[in-house]
Amino acid sequence: MSPSDDVTNEQSGRPEERMRSGVPPEDAAATRPGVADSAATKLDAKARAEMLEIVARYPEPRSALLPMLHLVQSYDGYVTPAGIEMCAEVLGLTEAEVAAVATFYTMYKRRPVGDYHVGVCTNTLCAIMGGDAIWSELSEHLGVGHDETTDDGTVSLERVECNAACDYAPVLMVNWEFVDNQTPQSARELVDTLRSGGAVNSSRGPRVCTWKQAERVLAGFPDGAETQGVSAGPASLAGLRLAKEKGWTAPTGGQPELDATSGEDQK
Ligand code: FES
Repeated sequence: MSPSDDVTNEQSGRPEERMRSGVPPEDAAATRPGVADSAATKLDAKARAEMLEIVARYPEPRSALLPMLHLVQSYDGYVTPAGIEMCAEVLGLTEAEVAAVATFYTMYKRRPVGDYHVGVCTNTLCAIMGGDAIWSELSEHLGVGHDETTDDGTVSLERVECNAACDYAPVLMVNWEFVDNQTPQSARELVDTLRSGGAVNSSRGPRVCTWKQAERVLAGFPDGAETQGVSAGPASLAGLRLAKEKGWTAPTGGQPELDATSGEDQK
C-alpha cells in the first residue's frame, strides 16, 4: 500500500480535467469518508461478528483496523460511511481516526470501484517499457480516467506506482493479482475478457476473482486459492540461479554465511 493521492490537488483545474483525474466535479464531497454518498450498506450483524473475529487476532484491538477496512470493502465495495462508523464503534476509535487511516492508503477506496479493479503501473521503469502506452490505450478504450469505473460497473482503472514487479515490466494488477509483461493490445484484450465474464489467470497467482472476493481474502478470510499458480517466475529467480551456478554467497555481517547452493550455514 502507498499513501493516497492528494484529493485536494486533484480537485483543481477545469471540470473535464478533474473528471479525467478521478474527481467528478459534482462529486468532490463524496471523496471524503464520512461525507460520502448515502448508498445503502450491506454491513450487517455477520460483518460485525467478523470484525470482532479479526480483532481477536491482535494483542491491541486497533491493530485490526487495516484488515477490517478490507472487510468493509468486501461487503460494500468501498469504504462507506457506514463502514467507518462500524469500525470506529468496534474498536472504540473516533470516526475521524478511522477515516484518517482509510484516506492514507490507496488500497482503500472512497467510492465504488468495478468488479475488476485494474491498476496500470506507470512508475518509471514500467512507463518506459510501455506502461504509459498501456494506460493511454485502456483509458481511451474504457472511456474512464484514474479511479473511474466503466458505466457497466465491471472495470475500474487506476494509475499505480511501482508494484515491486519491475522484472516483469510493464505490469498490470487486477484486484491485486499480477498480470506480467503486458502490451497495449494484450491489456485491451484482458479488460475485454473481464467485461465479458471470461476467466483470467494471473501470471503468478490464482485465477482472478472479483474485487469483493479479493478484499475478503485481504481481510484474512482465505478462499482456498492461495496455492494456485506460481509464486515466483524465472525472472525473479534469475539472481538466485546465477549465484548457485557461481557459488556466490551473500555478506553476512557477522552471521554465519549461507551457501547459495544448499541454503545451509557454511560453518
Ligand atoms: S516500475 Fe512497475 S513494477 Fe516497478
